[in-house]
Amino acid sequence: MLLSTIVVLLALLVKRSQSFKKEKLTVIGQLSSNIAHDIRNPLGTIKNAGVIIQKENKDGNEVISREIDRINLSVRRISHQIEEVLNYVRTTPLILKPHSVNQTIQEAIDTLTVPENITINTPTNDVTIKFDHEKILIVFVNIILNAVQSIGKTKGEITITINETETHATIQFENSGPNIPSKDLKRVFDTLYTTKLEGTGLGLSSCKNIIEQHKGEISASTKPVRFSIKLPK
Ligand SMILES: Nc1ncnc2c1ncn2[C@@H]1O[C@H](COP(=O)(O)OP(=O)(O)OP(=O)(O)O)[C@@H](O)[C@H]1O
Ligand SMILES: [Mg+2]
Repeated sequence: MLLSTIVVLLALLVKRSQSFKKEKLTVIGQLSSNIAHDIRNPLGTIKNAGVIIQKENKDGNEVISREIDRINLSVRRISHQIEEVLNYVRTTPLILKPHSVNQTIQEAIDTLTVPENITINTPTNDVTIKFDHEKILIVFVNIILNAVQSIGKTKGEITITINETETHATIQFENSGPNIPSKDLKRVFDTLYTTKLEGTGLGLSSCKNIIEQHKGEISASTKPVRFSIKLPK
């Protein structure tokens, strides 16, 4: 949280100050990318060392197993924070190409570990529109992950639908988790807004940046909880 907060506050300061030039944000972006890169490598070493120690632990020493699990969990948390910061500060130009929305939703689900208590109903129809595949994948993963986290250990459902008009495609993600209090609804897209102990509060804020870069719209509603994305065709 500390790393992401510092980088994001710096980025926000630069964004908000009209007197700063646009290049300054690029510098912050590059600086964050360098920090992230420098953290990623030793993190990889820690992760691999964990795998080796676990393999060497042939007689199944419980203390070693438990501590390795703790190391792995911490590595995953740091990796998540780095990815979130990078998604937030990276403002690369869009690479627009025609892609299937349905297939991209499926790819997003495949990158996640969805627990057995949660059923995901995917759309039965499809639409092919131009978008930046890598960025929209980040959006779908963030929204589905939030839904999975919100449902938690109870039995629940996530229903994804696609609707199209002549000019737009709308993708809706509905989940059966607890409702979002209406006073919090307008804050969910705010940078650094989080109600989670391990959250960065950058997920939805990055989604909003990406969707707006596509000249689309993203909104949230409750009862039931639903996130809607409207993309131009
Ligand atoms: N499907 C959902 N149901 C209920 N609340 C949600 C849902 N999605 C988002 N929220 C609320 O919006 C907040 C902001 O979401 P966001 O994805 O930006 O950050 P986060 O999930 O807290 O952290 P991170 O994405 O870094 O793990 C969440 O902390 C949560 O309170
Ligand atoms: Mg999130």
